[in-house]
Amino acid sequence: MGSSFSCCNSKNAEEGYATILLTIGGGNNSNPWRIFTYKELHAATNGFSEDYKLGEGGFGSVYWGKTSDGLQIAVKKLKSMNSKAEMEFAVEVEVLGRVRHKNLLGLRGYFAGNDQRLIVYDYMPNLSLLSHLHGQFAGDVQLDWKKRMKIVLGSAEGLLYLHHEVSPHIIHRDIKASNVLLDSNFEPLVADFGFAKLIPEGVSHMTTRVKGTLGYLAPEYAMWGKVSESCDVYSFGILLLEIVTGRKPIEKLPGGIKRTITEWAEPLISRGRFKDLVDPKLRGNFDENEVVQAINIAALCVQSEPDKRPTMREVVALLKGRDFNNAKGMSMRIKSVKYGEDLMALDQESDDGNNYDYGDESSAYGVFGALETQRMQDPYKPYGERR
Ligand SMILES: Nc1ncnc2c1ncn2[C@@H]1O[C@H](COP(=O)(O)OP(=O)(O)OP(=O)(O)O)[C@@H](O)[C@H]1O
Ligand SMILES: [Mg+2]
Repeated sequence: MGSSFSCCNSKNAEEGYATILLTIGGGNNSNPWRIFTYKELHAATNGFSEDYKLGEGGFGSVYWGKTSDGLQIAVKKLKSMNSKAEMEFAVEVEVLGRVRHKNLLGLRGYFAGNDQRLIVYDYMPNLSLLSHLHGQFAGDVQLDWKKRMKIVLGSAEGLLYLHHEVSPHIIHRDIKASNVLLDSNFEPLVADFGFAKLIPEGVSHMTTRVKGTLGYLAPEYAMWGKVSESCDVYSFGILLLEIVTGRKPIEKLPGGIKRTITEWAEPLISRGRFKDLVDPKLRGNFDENEVVQAINIAALCVQSEPDKRPTMREVVALLKGRDFNNAKGMSMRIKSVKYGEDLMALDQESDDGNNYDYGDESSAYGVFGALETQRMQDPYKPYGERR
C-alpha cells in the first residue's frame, strides 16, 4: 500500500481530501492547513508566472507566492493529471496531514479541483540543500561546516520521527538533497512525501515497485523492491556523504562514465584519508574529529545489508556523539555499490536531479538486473534458501 487513499478523481475531490485530513486530525491549531481557492493561488503567484518559478520536479512546477494576508508560500502545481500523479498528490496530502515536526515541511493547504491539483507549503527562503551544494548558491559557499552538521542532524531527527514516533510509521523513499529545504536559519525541513509508505503495525518490510532517485537507492530496494525503514537510512548515508564531500551521488566523468559517490569515497576511506574527502569549498575550515565521525556514520548507513545498518534512532544518537564506542565495533568500510551500465544509461539524475518511477509493478525490478552489488544475497530470504 502506498496509502489507503484513492478518492478524488471526481468533482468532489476537494471535500474528499478535506474529510481525510479532518479524520486524521489536520486543520486544527496544531496543524493549521486550509483549503485554498484556485483564484487565490493564481493571484498569489501572479498567474503562475515563470518569474515566480522556484523550480521543477517530477510532480510539476513550484512557484513562490504571497497570499493576501502577506504569508509567503510555495505552491506546487501538478504537471498533468493522470492516475500516478493523482496518487502522489493523495499520498503527499495524506502523509502531510499526519506529521508535525520541526524538521518536516508541513502542509499549509491545497486546492483540488477537477483537473488541477495544487499543494501549498510555507516558503523556505534558503530553498533546497541541492541549490547550495550543486545549484545556484553553490558559489556563495554559505554552508560552512557548522551549518552542514546542523542540516545533517535536523534531517536525521525528521527521519527518526517518521520511522519511530508517528503512527503508523512512515518510510519517505525519496530522501535526497533537493528534498531537504532550508529555512532562514538554515534549519533543514525534509519535504516531498509523494512516494512515502505508511507501514502497518508489526510489518518489518514490504515489496513494492521501485520509486526514487538513482544514486540514493538502497541496493535491496533497487534490486528486489524490498522497502523498509533501512532504505531511508541508506539514502540518508548517501546524503551525509554528499554534504561532507560536496560531491553528487552520481557523477559524470569525462568520457561519459558515471561513478557513484561510494565508489569515489571507498579508497579514500580505506586509506584513512578523511581530510581528502571534505568539500574543498570549505578551504580546510572544518572539525577533523567531526569529519571522521560523520564519515563513519555514513559508512554504517550505506552498508549493503539492510540489517547491518543502524536505525535512525541510533544514527541520531551517534550524531550527537553518544554510543560511538559501541558502534566502532561495526563495519566502517564502505562497500561501494556500482550501478551497471544499463541502469546508468536510464539515469538522468546527475543531469536533471529528478526522481523516477521505475515502470509498472510487473516490470519494476527488471531494470535492476543491471545493478551490480557486492554479490549481495537477498537479506529477506530464509537462510536455507540463500545461495
Ligand atoms: N517550500 C519551498 N520553499 C522554497 N523552495 C521550494 C519549496 N518547495 C520546493 N522548492 C524548490 O522547488 C524545487 C522543485 O521542487 P520539487 O520537489 O518539485 O522537485 P525536486 O525535489 O527537484 O524533484 P522531485 O520531483 O524528484 O522531488 C526544489 O528543488 C526547491 O528549490
Ligand atoms: Mg522535491
